[in-house]
Amino acid sequence: MTSPADLAREYTGLDIGARQHLDRLMGSWGMLADLSFSDLLLYVPLDQFSLAVARPAGEAGTVGLHFVVLGQMRPTTSATLFELDLVGQVVPAAELPLVLESWRRGVVITGARSGQAADEAAWRDQCVPVRWRGEVVGVLDRVWSPTGGRRTGGLERVYLRLFDRIAAMIAAGVYPFVSDEADVEEAPRVGDGVLVLDAEERIVFASPNAVNALHRMGIVSTILGSTLEALGVEDAAVAHAFSRRVPVIEELERPPDAIVLLRCIPLVDEGAVTGGLVLLRDVTDLRRRDRLLLSKDAAIREVHHRVKNNLQTISSLLRLQSRRLEDRNARVALLEAERRIRAIALVHEILAREPGEQVPFGEIVPALVELAKDATDPHRRVEIRVVGDAGDLVADVATPLAVVIAELLQNAAEHAFAGVAEAEAEPAVELSLANDGSRLEVEVRDNGRGFPEGFDIDRTRSLGLSIVRDLVRSQLSGSIAVSSDHGALVRLVVPLEPGAAAPLPRGA
Ligand SMILES: Nc1ncnc2c1ncn2[C@@H]1O[C@H](COP(=O)(O)OP(=O)(O)O)[C@@H](O)[C@H]1O
Ligand SMILES: [Mg+2]
Repeated sequence: MTSPADLAREYTGLDIGARQHLDRLMGSWGMLADLSFSDLLLYVPLDQFSLAVARPAGEAGTVGLHFVVLGQMRPTTSATLFELDLVGQVVPAAELPLVLESWRRGVVITGARSGQAADEAAWRDQCVPVRWRGEVVGVLDRVWSPTGGRRTGGLERVYLRLFDRIAAMIAAGVYPFVSDEADVEEAPRVGDGVLVLDAEERIVFASPNAVNALHRMGIVSTILGSTLEALGVEDAAVAHAFSRRVPVIEELERPPDAIVLLRCIPLVDEGAVTGGLVLLRDVTDLRRRDRLLLSKDAAIREVHHRVKNNLQTISSLLRLQSRRLEDRNARVALLEAERRIRAIALVHEILAREPGEQVPFGEIVPALVELAKDATDPHRRVEIRVVGDAGDLVADVATPLAVVIAELLQNAAEHAFAGVAEAEAEPAVELSLANDGSRLEVEVRDNGRGFPEGFDIDRTRSLGLSIVRDLVRSQLSGSIAVSSDHGALVRLVVPLEPGAAAPLPRGA
């Protein structure tokens, strides 16, 4: 689908500033449709050629001029008249006499819509020239049906009057404001609550929903005739909007628990602020939900933090205990257990820091490498290289994987070069990781002496590789293959979709 912005570029000779002005208008014109209980259409002349011929006033100049519908907005306060999407429709100017006149003379024109169909006969148009840097660059057409519309009560009259004031600002080139923040997704809408302020910031109208929002903030005194400040509402936003002549949006918090989003649009006439339109939205429940979610997330992270601390305590206890042992084998065994626990603690450390249950595994890898270097002979420099990235992994995968990789790196550092003459080759270990979204491939290879003759991963009774094998197969539902070719190679494939079986690794 072509966006209105694309359309404008394609069909019209408007410059970038004018296009942005029209984009801003369409970014916030839901409010205008709601205030006027009407459908809105934005017409722009078709192209530069049309602009050139039609600019000089006079009937002759308009021959061949066409308008294109750049945008369309339906009201949420009333039924739409247009079931169809009209955006992109090209209409000869002759069929839109009011739009043409408004565009040519640069004034707001209201009248009967030149109806093509029978039911359109009674429709009415209010054509508002959209001015940018003194030039009319488009026409905002408000279309409504006097028979089918809403009964015109007090609220309707106030809203229509607001629309007229803003329409005059559009025609004068003051609206939309260059710095408009209405794009905020939660920005209050007309239906959320409307206050109208006079030039002295006194409230001269409050819609029922606006009154509710103020009640919610604990305001029960007479609203009409008072200013927000006098009512005890933090009114910096309003003051700012009035003094700077820019729209302002602000979140107001009222203890114990009311939170209201306030948007103030200054109403400007001939350079002077003559009043303000304030939209109020009670976002208390919305924010409470946000906070609940946030605090649940914080609680989970806190638990991970405590698990990490406990694991570190266990690890220190093992280390202390190992120092007291006379027997070297026993001491080594305890230190290995201690390192395995540290590998698990690394995962919880990340989970305690990151929101959500995903672990960016790349943040753990350097620590795993350090852990392996810890276990190597300090006189022997072993280079450990990391290639690729495992991406984000759920904790259920990340935890066993951290233990497995720690084990394999440690083995390479510990066994691959034992008894190999120093000069033979620069000792190197490479850990490569690849995650294509559905499966994870991990390889640990070294250029050492390779696995002993007849080594079988299925039969081995040594603890380290037994742990690796069992974690990969049962906890990760993956597969493992070991081989020796210019060194040892261990290859793992772990399926990432739950329940999917791992294919046998290549070369297994
Ligand atoms: N990268 C490697 N290069 C050469 N031999 C290895 C390598 N990894 C493991 N091995 C051999 O496999 C054996 C079993 O390893 P493992 O189960 O981790 O036990 P441990 O490390 O406690 O000896 C090691 O003793 C070693 O002989
Ligand atoms: Mg080992």
